Amino acid sequence: MADSQPAISDEGYVSSAELADAAAQYVAMLESEYGAEKRESLVTAAELRVRIAQESKGLKAARARLATLLLRGTEARDECDILRRENALDGSVLLELDQRTSSYLRVGQLDLASRSARLQTDLIYGAKRFEPQAGRAIAPRRIRITTPVLTIQKLRHDIEQFEYLRERNILGDEFCEVINHYEDLIRRLTPLGPEARMPLSPADEGKLGDKYSRLIHVRESPELPDVLSGSWNREAVESEYLNDSNGVAVVDDFLTAEALESVRSFCLESTIWFTNRYAHGRFGAFFREGFNSPLLLQIAREVAKAFPAIVGDRTLRQLWGFKYGEQLPGETVHADFAAVNLNIWITPESANRDAATGGLYIYDCKAPLTWSFDEYNRRPELIRGFLRHRGARSRYIPYKVNRAIFFNSNLFHGTAPLDFRAGYENRRINVSFLYGDRMEEADDLGSPRPSAAAQSSASRVGWRSASFARFRTG
Ligand SMILES: [Fe+2]
Repeated sequence: MADSQPAISDEGYVSSAELADAAAQYVAMLESEYGAEKRESLVTAAELRVRIAQESKGLKAARARLATLLLRGTEARDECDILRRENALDGSVLLELDQRTSSYLRVGQLDLASRSARLQTDLIYGAKRFEPQAGRAIAPRRIRITTPVLTIQKLRHDIEQFEYLRERNILGDEFCEVINHYEDLIRRLTPLGPEARMPLSPADEGKLGDKYSRLIHVRESPELPDVLSGSWNREAVESEYLNDSNGVAVVDDFLTAEALESVRSFCLESTIWFTNRYAHGRFGAFFREGFNSPLLLQIAREVAKAFPAIVGDRTLRQLWGFKYGEQLPGETVHADFAAVNLNIWITPESANRDAATGGLYIYDCKAPLTWSFDEYNRRPELIRGFLRHRGARSRYIPYKVNRAIFFNSNLFHGTAPLDFRAGYENRRINVSFLYGDRMEEADDLGSPRPSAAAQSSASRVGWRSASFARFRTG
């Protein structure tokens, strides 16, 4: 353990010695159960079944203790590697971490949730890193949930981001070669159409040198003295939300200039835009996949404190950013899993070529609570039919930088078609904070309230990133 600073936990201080002791105990337990060589080779499904069935209480307890202390203590790389190795055996470490992240969020322990989520991100997306002691780059034992998918838009975005980081001397010349490989891949994909998707092959991954969809750089984003600007009236915003028949309030000049600039730099610099399953070059970055910083959590906390009548005692359940391509031809209608969404736009409106587009539509119609996450979030045709049938009307909120919109998550809503200028810094970005759970809300459109078990299962699906949902069910 190199770290000499004690780390603050929810139950006091965890010392480095305590962590080292837990790690040593854990390794000793593993070796006594399997032997050092056997432990490394337990990889087949049959062996796994035997191993899980036979795992002793002592080993389980040692692992649980280590994982708990890791989350409360420091981020010691040796111990992270132990967790990676163990997860390669049965996947349970990642599941445990995900459950911990969810539990910490549910009870409002944001610092612990952040630490747990960061470890999840590192286990899945960690890139090669230089180890001064070893004098060489070390590739972590990453956990692969799904095969990364190459798309033209993602490769273009990443090239622009690498160039942006090179201009700032954050990345070095070695990325020129990476960019050349990316351009080769774009040439290969182009004949297959603009939305072509191709799984990243081991050969291409080898050529790209561990760079595609990796945490190559994450911008430091510490807390600031002030994050919410003083230019709006808190009571007026709350009464707008409470008096609106649907639950919508719009606030301009929401963040301080410093907070806005820092969130924007975090989004521009950090290589966290992993979710590329959407069309038209739209990318998502989620809390468990790197959209996680002290500043973002400070904003989440201060918003909850400043707007008690809107957020109430609901806890933060998800944080995300979305980054768009130059054009989006149609609206992305859906509802979200939370009780309250806070959406903030952070790209200057000078990037918007058409002031009549690029904003947000919010309908005066909620998703029935009986609908599944898939139905209310990912089935636009089903939703459009429902909205037509209900005679729903939409309110259009024009795009403006630093404009915040509070709205009931369960209202159908969607990003309007957009047309933004070319250039990496002109990409439209929104950040969202989601509080509470739609299932906890009492008012519905008369649909029967689902059972507690159904509520619990539906909310679990909603909080997780799609990749993790695939991991759990696949
Ligand atoms: Fe949404």
